[in-house]
Amino acid sequence: MKIPKRLQPLVDDGMIDEVLVQLMSGKEAQVYVVRCGEQVRCAKVFKEAKQRSFKQAVQYQEGRKERNSRRSRAMAKKTRYGQKEQEKAWLNSEVDALYRLAAAGVRVPEPFGFVDGVLLMELINDADGYTAPRLDDVTFTPEQAREHYATVLQEVVRMLCAGLIHGDLSEFNVLFDGRVPVIIDLPQAVDAAGNNAAQEMLERDVDNMRDYFARYAPELLETQYAKEIWALYESGQLHPDSELTGQFVLDTHIADVDEVLAVIDDAEEEELDRQARIHGDEDDDD
Ligand SMILES: Nc1ncnc2c1ncn2[C@@H]1O[C@H](COP(=O)(O)OP(=O)(O)OP(=O)(O)O)[C@@H](O)[C@H]1O
Ligand SMILES: [Mg+2]
Repeated sequence: MKIPKRLQPLVDDGMIDEVLVQLMSGKEAQVYVVRCGEQVRCAKVFKEAKQRSFKQAVQYQEGRKERNSRRSRAMAKKTRYGQKEQEKAWLNSEVDALYRLAAAGVRVPEPFGFVDGVLLMELINDADGYTAPRLDDVTFTPEQAREHYATVLQEVVRMLCAGLIHGDLSEFNVLFDGRVPVIIDLPQAVDAAGNNAAQEMLERDVDNMRDYFARYAPELLETQYAKEIWALYESGQLHPDSELTGQFVLDTHIADVDEVLAVIDDAEEEELDRQARIHGDEDDDD
């Protein structure tokens, strides 16, 4: 096809040899299938800031580490330079997330670089070599739904162990390669440790996926994985291979105040006894 304007610089640099076809045009980006030498890859062209929507909201940016202090000061002030730096940080975050997650063993498209607002990455295909469908376009048996939900949960746990929460996880941002679910679309990924809304976002991600898979396996609606994962994470007990049960018991045990007071009284009495004995001994010595 004719080379889109935004891809021209990458063609000029020899990073892309041919643009084959345009995939869906999402809210945030246009996605193309491109040829790089022998490889067929995926090129995600991010829209300009003003054309984009909610994901740049403050909530998502919070806690993101900005290593360059001059840049973070500029971003805080709303100067034009600051806005440009903010835009760059936003765009880089999907590439950062892809590298971090790939390193953590999460199945995401392999990233091949980020140039001029274009992310080059692995094109996810299905078993027949066609571009992989989104989960929304796939149907499963109840058994498959349970199996793939378990896989997605394990990926969410691995992400969280790597410090990240997807933040926009749903059947529209997970592809199916015929074997396993592949998570995509990460520019809004949030920093789990530094973000006050982290728990809420994790629960929303997990519950979105639960609701999707429950279309095929309704009993999944009874599970409580989101709360279980967060409780393990918060108490420092979450590991990439944590075994999950789907059960979560809220600690509703109310302290029995009378019992606590009785224990304190006993301790006090014992102490008085002890002191009386010591003084008694001292008296005997005289
Ligand atoms: N690596 C990939 N391999 C195959 N298809 C992909 C890949 N990345 C994206 N796509 C396709 O392009 C679509 C849009 O990609 P993505 O979700 O990353 O962009 P987006 O503009 O943020 O989307 P939206 O805002 O609609 O969620 C996906 O739904 C998927 O069909
Ligand atoms: Mg998307």
